[in-house]
Amino acid sequence: MRGPRITRRDFCAGLAVGAALGRPGMAAGSAPLTARPAVVQLAPEGYAATEVWSYDGTVPGTTLRAKQGARLTRQLVNDLPEPTSVHWHGIRIDNAMDGVSGLTQDPVPPGGTFEYDFVVPDAGTYWYHSHTNSMEQVARGLAGPLIVEEPDAPDVDRDEVLMLDDWLLDPDTGAFAGDFGNPMMQSHAGRMGNLIGTNGRYDLSLPVQRHARLRLRLINAANARIFVLRLDGLEGWTVALDGMPLPAPEPVTGDLILAPAQRIDLMVDVTAAEGAIAGLVRQANDDTWQALVDMPVSGAASLARRGVPAPLAPNPNMALPDLKAARQLEMVMEGGAMSGLRNARFNGRELGFRELVQEGQFWALAGQVGMDDTPFASLSRGEAVRLRLSNRTVFAHAMHLHGMHFRTIAADGSLGPMRDTILSLPDEPIDIAFVADNPGKWLLHCHMLGHAASGMTNWIDVS
Ligand code: C2O
Ligand code: CU
Repeated sequence: MRGPRITRRDFCAGLAVGAALGRPGMAAGSAPLTARPAVVQLAPEGYAATEVWSYDGTVPGTTLRAKQGARLTRQLVNDLPEPTSVHWHGIRIDNAMDGVSGLTQDPVPPGGTFEYDFVVPDAGTYWYHSHTNSMEQVARGLAGPLIVEEPDAPDVDRDEVLMLDDWLLDPDTGAFAGDFGNPMMQSHAGRMGNLIGTNGRYDLSLPVQRHARLRLRLINAANARIFVLRLDGLEGWTVALDGMPLPAPEPVTGDLILAPAQRIDLMVDVTAAEGAIAGLVRQANDDTWQALVDMPVSGAASLARRGVPAPLAPNPNMALPDLKAARQLEMVMEGGAMSGLRNARFNGRELGFRELVQEGQFWALAGQVGMDDTPFASLSRGEAVRLRLSNRTVFAHAMHLHGMHFRTIAADGSLGPMRDTILSLPDEPIDIAFVADNPGKWLLHCHMLGHAASGMTNWIDVS
């Protein structure tokens, strides 16, 4: 008599049980996200590989996807040699899950774990990255895309996530070059890479068909680089900024500016002829345009070009702040090289610029260098805020507010699209407005991560 044979079904079920038992104490449904060293080929073939710090072994980390309104659960496992934490950039999140070590959680020590568990209320393009020693950890590779899917996906042939980044590498060894806390870089424009790439590759190529419609989700994960981009052989529309849908798609006519941490969702139609190379090009320092993502065209997806894409469905809670009732605040941004910053508060003491430099600090937000026990502003939940960002430095800064999106206020008082990160240029004050509707402690900082680490970090309290 033949005994029962193990079926493939049993075998797989057995595997699943084994996997679930793998790590004790793991929350139900929580897949681990492991921060760990890995060796990846960032530089072109023929050059040495790079030892990075990664999520699950790749740079960028795996694209995490969740349905709008769903719960996302991930257990962070720290297999790095130093403490870490994960920030879910742009998610209007429960404050306890925001991942800012020293403000919303304790850093996770080497060998430790943390259960991230939160709802993703808004559809769109977001990302996750380390928020502990982030100037170094993000530069070493600890970042990945986070996509929150619309209940009804827009009609496109393909949906492509493009995470733009740069790496500063020693071409001989493949190792990260320079010290991450380099004072020269921190006090100027920041750490710029000598190798620029997309999705961890310097030469990303996406074959496309003529007249195909693609959704491109651009994410800038670089520490300091502002990408200036153009479409080549593509007709495009911007449909969302920093995750939030625009009321109507806007045709792309000129340059697309993508500051650190910003996202742009584009709908593009391939207009280049078969055999041509379409794609994304970027402006280099010498003002030439260089290929960033190649899209070789072969075959045709349809016979003719399509019409203007439909707008994405609005996210919940896109209410306009009431500017008349808004509390008025100003945040002066000062410091850096060639700045004339005289003095600012650091660790509860008023220090002169020289003393600050000795402490490795170069920048101040509202007279404060780095985090203090007292927030920049204490807001009541639901309060409308009008905040002027006055850039008195000679550098550009990518100012990011955690936990809430804001709108820019134009000179005529009209409100711009919702964003979570805004590029601030010298001597061009920006007025932003938001409703402080998410309780908790929220960072407001420059996303040029060397700037943030050397003074440009402050916070607000909403209670
Ligand atoms: Cu992308 Cu403070 O974060
Ligand atoms: Cu900055």
